[in-house]
Amino acid sequence: MPIRNRFAELHEDITAWRRDLHEHPELQYDLPRTAGIVADKLRAFGCDSVVEGIGRTGVVALIHGKTNQSGKTIAFRADMDALPIFEATGAAHASKTPGKMHACGHDGHTAMLLGAAQYLAETRNFDGTVAIVFQPAEEGGAGAEAMVQDGLIEKFGISEIYGLHNTPLLPLGSFAIRPGAFYAAVDSFHINVRGKGGHAARPNNTVDTTLAASAIVMALQSVVSRNTDPQQAVVVSVTSFRTESEAFNVIPEHAVLRGTVRSFDMEVRAKTLDRIRAIAELTAQSYGAEAELGFDEEPYPVMVNHDTETEHCISAARDVAGDCITDAPRTTGGEDFAYMLQACPGAYIQLGIGPGPGLHHPEYDFNDEVIPTGCSYWVALAEQRLPA
Ligand code: NI
Repeated sequence: MPIRNRFAELHEDITAWRRDLHEHPELQYDLPRTAGIVADKLRAFGCDSVVEGIGRTGVVALIHGKTNQSGKTIAFRADMDALPIFEATGAAHASKTPGKMHACGHDGHTAMLLGAAQYLAETRNFDGTVAIVFQPAEEGGAGAEAMVQDGLIEKFGISEIYGLHNTPLLPLGSFAIRPGAFYAAVDSFHINVRGKGGHAARPNNTVDTTLAASAIVMALQSVVSRNTDPQQAVVVSVTSFRTESEAFNVIPEHAVLRGTVRSFDMEVRAKTLDRIRAIAELTAQSYGAEAELGFDEEPYPVMVNHDTETEHCISAARDVAGDCITDAPRTTGGEDFAYMLQACPGAYIQLGIGPGPGLHHPEYDFNDEVIPTGCSYWVALAEQRLPA
């Protein structure tokens, strides 16, 4: 069955929910309004139980089918958090909080999963239980890990878990997935460089941290080109370079570099981090300075789709859209759904929203036209995995 007629009727409602969430973005775990609305709606739909506070501010609802001979529970997950970005869409539903914005479409993910929950609670045309999972802190903060550590999988007896992300690079309403490693492991690092500050007119009396840190930035670009197997994919990006002085005539004592590493293989990742440490320390030494590598955020692991569950996603996507790209390219973006896929079999699919500004761009906006497709996908997956 392709797109469900019911979602043509609900399209306007779900669009209104999505735009309301968009107007009121909240960050990381701090989601009192968003998680509150989600829990209220799930109760109003008549879900059999609604539990708040899983993984601090996550919400989980259970919907039982007409029968439960399978005794099985499968879970669908959406993320609820926004980003610290100043919105530039000019949309009527633009963020009312300057500096916070739903620039990754998590407002759309949340609204579509709510729509699917309403439909599943109305129809219950399946055998078993569907767990509807709303997680906090996907954009840094590892909300998925917090929910897993809080017992998400065991408490609710989940045997399969599925996720979805909107993708501006794909045609509107099309699906793409791949088995195995799909989204990269994410490490965020900093390098503290210490020297000896002083007057810029007499550099010979100083140890110039700016020069040493600059040499480190340049040298780090050899990690991918000279130390990594050309068959492997790794990204090393230095994204920030700060000293404590803005004066033109002072050589600062201290500089801090920040950056990120993206990788798909744990061995390659370990070697990359080792090389970054060695290059930073030894390059600094060659200038008489000292460097120390550290890490800010907890790293996100590689997100690996399970083979069998990837096939289930393809089947549901074909049911809805008639087709599904099954060899989607790996992405160097990160996705903390990785933690849920480490804890439970499952898979993660991309849903195209058509051309437009990319994710995390200040002019990005979720495309509400895709809502019936996204909702129908969840329903198809539920009814296929738990046939009545
Ligand atoms: Ni996202």
